[in-house]
Amino acid sequence: ELERIPHPPRRIPLVGDVFGADVRRPVQDSMRYGRLLGPVFRRKFFSREIVFVWGGSLAADLADESRFAKHVGLGVANLRPVAGDGLFTAYNHEPNWQLAHDVLAPGFSREAMAGYHPMMLDVAERLTGRWDAEQSAGRAVDVPGDMTKLTLETIARTGFGHDFGSFERARPHPFVNAMVGTLTFAQRRNVVPGPLTPLLLRGAARRNEADMAYLNHTVDEVVRARRTTRGEGDLLDRMLETAHPVTGERLTAENVRRQVITFLVAGHETTSGALSFALHYLSRHPDVAARAREEVDRVWGDVDRPGYDQVARLRYVRRVLDESLRLWPTAPAFAREAREDTVLYDTHPMRRGAWALVLTTMLHRDPQVWGADAERFDPDRFDAKAVRARAAHTFKPFGTGARACIGRQFALHEATLVLGLLLRRYELRPDPGYRLRVAERLTLMPEGLRLHLDRRAPVA
Ligand code: HEM
Repeated sequence: ELERIPHPPRRIPLVGDVFGADVRRPVQDSMRYGRLLGPVFRRKFFSREIVFVWGGSLAADLADESRFAKHVGLGVANLRPVAGDGLFTAYNHEPNWQLAHDVLAPGFSREAMAGYHPMMLDVAERLTGRWDAEQSAGRAVDVPGDMTKLTLETIARTGFGHDFGSFERARPHPFVNAMVGTLTFAQRRNVVPGPLTPLLLRGAARRNEADMAYLNHTVDEVVRARRTTRGEGDLLDRMLETAHPVTGERLTAENVRRQVITFLVAGHETTSGALSFALHYLSRHPDVAARAREEVDRVWGDVDRPGYDQVARLRYVRRVLDESLRLWPTAPAFAREAREDTVLYDTHPMRRGAWALVLTTMLHRDPQVWGADAERFDPDRFDAKAVRARAAHTFKPFGTGARACIGRQFALHEATLVLGLLLRRYELRPDPGYRLRVAERLTLMPEGLRLHLDRRAPVA
């Protein structure tokens, strides 16, 4: 059944398509092969063969929940040692998925978001405090570094009533280093076959053990602190105290640990990347920045601390964010498996359990969906009319179906709020020598992105 699916030309017996593969940037490497081989292709690393899908019609078919479901494989499966049956890494059949989903979903309702809003604003003001200081000292700002501080503090504060003190530190919090280590290790294991792991990744495996121990230790401290004080009805309270509305079941202590790690990591890493890419594009497209800034001034008037609704009304800023997530969806792929024997798009037979990886970065550049200028940054692709005219299931930065991102509204609200605040306060100047380089650690991040800031005159 695989025979008709193209693969790279120089396939070598036993090892597969490892020749010339870029193990540090597997997504961008696969994008290159996607352009070469077309909307469905396969790559083989030793005995493991992966089918990649990026054509709009094929990906839309994989979104059919009656025939396909999330597949826990590759990078996601590699995170099981640290995130276990937490929401992101749970197998579909594991009872803790439905239990945790039902218990935690109200923590992402509109009311819950409105409750997080003032806390998000507090954290964002710590960022602008820092950027004001950098700006007056004439220094450029480290965009991904500072966005990671912001998003980590935001999820820690809103979800867990915790403060990592990131803005008071010169270096990233050790939690971030341990997380990056674990994500990078999970990515590396995708291309190294299981039996060779002890040989090729021995040192890395030992460091990974230490990183996982540090993540567990941090989480245990966060939970212990809560046992002695009362929370304000945040995610951690839900995890510790809320029984399932129907069955009355509760999460076990071990599962809570998995969920806290999951949310601390999933809740900040991808949002940080999304904000960083958006700031990169805003700095390179002054016309777009001016239009977005005009919207912020109009919607916020002379208010310095916008309300929840004033963020929701920033339609154009939101389009800038969507367009950035189109070109660089910071969770760049997701896997889908067949629930039963089926035929993908009436063309490719799949046995029950067979799976394919949707390469979101390429799906979002399919010329059949986005036109011949798909590589161009243009937020107007997301105006209401353009969205209506486009085929369904072709914009998937948050995955699809029952296992799609639970934090979508959280991320979008946080990021829109922060972009609004930054646009209102600063003009962004790019470093003329910078060319976008994208670093990979399961997630995507613009590497070495620094921006110069000018303060705007306060709005009269
Ligand atoms: C799942 C992307 C922000 C928590 C997912 C998935 C994607 C994704 C693609 C599905 C993965 C799969 O199918 O294997 C993103 C992006 C974000 C973002 C691009 C930011 C721009 C967040 C935030 C939170 C979060 C802020 C929490 C506060 C989760 C969780 C899951 C998930 C818990 C697993 C859901 C389940 O399987 O039930 N995310 N996410 N994410 N995300 Fe996000």
